Amino acid sequence: MCGIVAYIGQKEAYPILIKGLQRLEYRGYDSAGVALFNDGNLNILKRKGKVNDLLQFSKDKNTAGNIGMGHTRWATHGVPNNTNAHPHPSGDGDLAIIHNGIIENYEPLKKALKNKGHIFTSDTDTEVLVHLIEEVQRETKTDIAEAVRLALSQVIGAYAIVVLDQKDPTRLVAARKASPLVIGIGKDDFYLASDATPIIEYTKNVVYLNDEEIAVVDLKNGLEIKTIANEPQVPVIQEIHMEVERLEKGGYDHYMLKEIYEQPRTIADCMRGRIDSKNNRIYLGGIMEHKKRFQNAKRIIIVACGTSWHSGLIAEYLIEELARIPVEVEYASEFRYRNPIVGEGDIVIALSQSGETADTLAALEIAKKRGAMIYGIVNVVGSSIARLTDAGSYIHAGPEIGVASTKAFTGQVTLLTMMALNLAHERGTISESEYQKLIIELENVPNKIKELLANNEENSKIKYIASVFQNAENALYLGRGYNFPIALEGALKLKEISYIHAEGYPAAEMKHGPIALIDENMPVVVVATNHSAYEKILSNIQEVKARKGRVVAIVEQGDVHIKNIADFVIEIPKTAEPLTPLLAVIPLQLLSYHIAVMRECNVDQPRNLAKSVTVE
Ligand code: F6R
Repeated sequence: MCGIVAYIGQKEAYPILIKGLQRLEYRGYDSAGVALFNDGNLNILKRKGKVNDLLQFSKDKNTAGNIGMGHTRWATHGVPNNTNAHPHPSGDGDLAIIHNGIIENYEPLKKALKNKGHIFTSDTDTEVLVHLIEEVQRETKTDIAEAVRLALSQVIGAYAIVVLDQKDPTRLVAARKASPLVIGIGKDDFYLASDATPIIEYTKNVVYLNDEEIAVVDLKNGLEIKTIANEPQVPVIQEIHMEVERLEKGGYDHYMLKEIYEQPRTIADCMRGRIDSKNNRIYLGGIMEHKKRFQNAKRIIIVACGTSWHSGLIAEYLIEELARIPVEVEYASEFRYRNPIVGEGDIVIALSQSGETADTLAALEIAKKRGAMIYGIVNVVGSSIARLTDAGSYIHAGPEIGVASTKAFTGQVTLLTMMALNLAHERGTISESEYQKLIIELENVPNKIKELLANNEENSKIKYIASVFQNAENALYLGRGYNFPIALEGALKLKEISYIHAEGYPAAEMKHGPIALIDENMPVVVVATNHSAYEKILSNIQEVKARKGRVVAIVEQGDVHIKNIADFVIEIPKTAEPLTPLLAVIPLQLLSYHIAVMRECNVDQPRNLAKSVTVE
């Protein structure tokens, strides 16, 4: 989320920055801006919208300068507008900063700075950071590099930043923690960026900055790196090999595939700052601020549509099992028109990637009018649902462009899992050892998904299964417990992008109707990763096989029984049962993707669908 790029050298900076921002636009396109140093002046140009809007705006402006920085934003703090766009200047106008990440403790820092006379013009956490650096510089009378270092030691959160001081214009200072930053080393110049894509046509030599490191690129003294704890580091220069042509969509054929592969990172982003790994504790700001209401809630009602509704169903299993609060999950479109019994003491949670879904918004308005507390779990910052709710949590999945939701779904499930654990711990409905075990397992999920996505054997198997079933007319998806909603989600993914009719069912319900559909042509995808209902799932698979159905089973690594009876098995890494949905959904996303590609469907923009459903 957010792309940053900077240049210092002899060339004109502006074209390098613009091209770099266009490459980084996949990281967000809420606003774009540049800061250029020329003739003793720092010139900031920024605009709400895409890089093209910035280009239009800057057409007749002065864009000269050999030192500069650029930013493309995916809003986290503050709505997308011209004021919240980066770069942000310090109060005295001497410094400019670009930032990718989230400063978690920006509120107390802002308060303290306000008490010292600082005036803020934007709603961003980034502006607080540049004022903090300015304040440290003023108080300690140090140079910009040291001021950045001292300021960052006060900061909690994630950042990749570049800072320019117009009093010291032969260098740029950069730092990173949990957000990426690459330094390109040219002949007599330097490039800094969120990834290597803005750099590769100028130099192949790069240094990947490590967490909690500060780099100074200086036209006189070259590159120097130290840690925030002030220990000097030896820069490790690496050679990169990347073809410029592969850069579109980050080198993926479709946004959907890119977004599937982003999930290890987006799930980690969702957890960042919310899990204290040292003490194994979860802290969800929105919940803790309304701790009493959550603790005393009579019930939780979840309203959502489509894929978000499937996340809600998983939450029902998680919250009831772990926190022992009754949960109801409603289609927002039904809830809003059925005169629901809802009022004080109820908590209504809206789940929405876009934050703009008309039915979900209307359902929330009804709940609010009737006195319920309303809570939003959304991806798009500043969206209508985010503004309407009393409290909420962003999932921080970054822009989801493919119409079929993938990373937003796993972001929602991650957030809801943290919510269930946070509530369970506060209410004392979970043992300390189970709580700690699930937190550790949850933190391991991004690596397990990485492992799954990197497993060539399993990936070729998924492609092969896709080729076998690409001409199917129908498909049945079955699952139990936590993975029943995954069966629904797998079926939805298949039908929306490949136009194959698919239905998801609780596995045991099959015998009450859908079993009549099974014959030798019917693919039956079974999510068989449950530990507690393993024997039951095994029997359901046998029932399908007895009717000659063709079974694709999603199993955990090391499974022996299902392997012997299913036609195809896809293995996922082992995890705790409540977390299996996060892993089991990945092969189903890939299976639909490959089938849709084989059927030559428009994967990213399936017919009749839109990313944001703002009509009823
Ligand atoms: C399916 C999909 C849709 C959305 C639904 C709700 O892949 O993307 O079913 O989940 O339109 O949208 P949001 O989450 O934006 O409210």
